[in-house]
Amino acid sequence: MLQRRANGLTPRPRELTRVPLPTRFGLFEVRAFECGSGLVYLALVRGEVEGQSDVLTRVHSECLTGDTLGSLRCDCGVQLHLALRAIAGAGTGVLVYVTGHEGRGIGLIDKLRAYVEQDLGADTLEANLRLGLVADGRDYADAAAVLQVLGVRSVRLLTNNPGKVEGLRCAGISVATVEPLATAPHSRNLAYMRTKQRRLFHAEPTGDIIAEQIFPEMSRAVDASELIGAVRQHEARPYVVLKYAQTLDGRIATSTGDSKWISGEGERRISHALRAACDAVLVGVGTILHDDPQLTVRMVPGASPARVVLDSTLRMPSNAKILEPDAPTIVLTTQRSEPFRREALRQRHVDVQVMPRGPDGVDLRSALTALCEAGVQTLLVEGGAKVITSMLSSGVVDRIIVGVAPIIIGRGTEAVGALGTTLIKEGIALTNRSIHVLADDVVFSWDVASRWDP
Ligand SMILES: NC(=O)c1ccc[n+]([C@@H]2O[C@H](COP(=O)([O-])OP(=O)(O)OC[C@H]3O[C@@H](n4cnc5c(N)ncnc54)[C@H](OP(=O)(O)O)[C@@H]3O)[C@@H](O)[C@H]2O)c1
Repeated sequence: MLQRRANGLTPRPRELTRVPLPTRFGLFEVRAFECGSGLVYLALVRGEVEGQSDVLTRVHSECLTGDTLGSLRCDCGVQLHLALRAIAGAGTGVLVYVTGHEGRGIGLIDKLRAYVEQDLGADTLEANLRLGLVADGRDYADAAAVLQVLGVRSVRLLTNNPGKVEGLRCAGISVATVEPLATAPHSRNLAYMRTKQRRLFHAEPTGDIIAEQIFPEMSRAVDASELIGAVRQHEARPYVVLKYAQTLDGRIATSTGDSKWISGEGERRISHALRAACDAVLVGVGTILHDDPQLTVRMVPGASPARVVLDSTLRMPSNAKILEPDAPTIVLTTQRSEPFRREALRQRHVDVQVMPRGPDGVDLRSALTALCEAGVQTLLVEGGAKVITSMLSSGVVDRIIVGVAPIIIGRGTEAVGALGTTLIKEGIALTNRSIHVLADDVVFSWDVASRWDP
């Protein structure tokens, strides 16, 4: 940067070293360059890029909190992994990891200070401005110079950011096409992503809005935020979203407990987008015993939530998939479980919490308060029947999402059991409906009048 200011030219980056870097996305060659600014950029190169045109390329702005620590305030970590996966899939490409771009160029500490401003109500642009900083101070000349040293003739640029396209073009890079890098939004980064779309003109950073159809063959992100509704903060419990898939005749499983797969692929992608939008996903131990779900995000690009199981006596088998280390697991149990079982789970880094007993197993209010204290603001409840029923009868559900599949199975597991309702007017009233027609299924969502807000 200093040298560039002196003579108006971008100095040629100096290669410091190169070495193979095996990653979970496959093998890259990492090449380190000292740039004119004095900063060191890394180029993760896959295949032969020298002299090549239309090279799949990501110029990734460093984000310690998102890339390394898994912060959900931004979409950076998910985008980084998505880009590496795309480049590995293409067989040839490069990811330039740009240091010094932290917080759109304001640096780590000021980025954290800007988060304080955001918590006070500023959006991601205003926050920088309130601190007397620029909204976006990034410069792409050094990244362009690295691509030129690598001999890349033109790029297919993985980005949603038109500013990055413009910056690279101005620095002499031929951008042949722009490929979007949408990620399923989390309730914690939705406002940030919307601001990037509205004020920085990013192209659909949250992926496909659920409109008429979700196309199963596309691996794009799904924006499930309309289904989730307006997340309301409660004092002592998370915002609770109840979601299940049912047959047209209201069953969530057959009488033998089979529920795979009631819904089609589009509806299941939406379920994964809902997980990606929430801090935690909860089921009862009955669902673990019947279905052995992983409860991770796999069908859309997004972060997996913490997995929570209500299991008062620890009936869960030790080889349950939910105990695998893909995402954090919280088991809420009671004094009725054997202490040695709790200890065995803790040895596997599972967060085991002993709750008071309630009429249906674990006392729901205590469970929700414990989750709130653990930092869970948004909780997706995915069943099964007993948990759906106890959540509804406790009055803790804020939003209900029901996927209705075009199939009738007759007697089976009812989605909702007895709620003690004798008159229609005593039923749980639902408002603020949204309807989405998918290729196979129809997805409904409503606000539920919550009856517990201590
Ligand atoms: N279609 C769908 O969307 C969908 C989704 C999920 C599941 N399912 C189906 O649902 C069936 C499982 O339903 P399920 O009713 O057996 O299982 P569940 O609701 O997942 O689990 C119920 C068990 O959780 C424990 N629990 C602890 N605290 C509880 C509380 N406060 N409220 C309710 N339960 C509590 C109880 O066991 P303890 O007393 O031992 O603690 C209870 O028996 C399976 O057939 C599965 O395939 C369908």
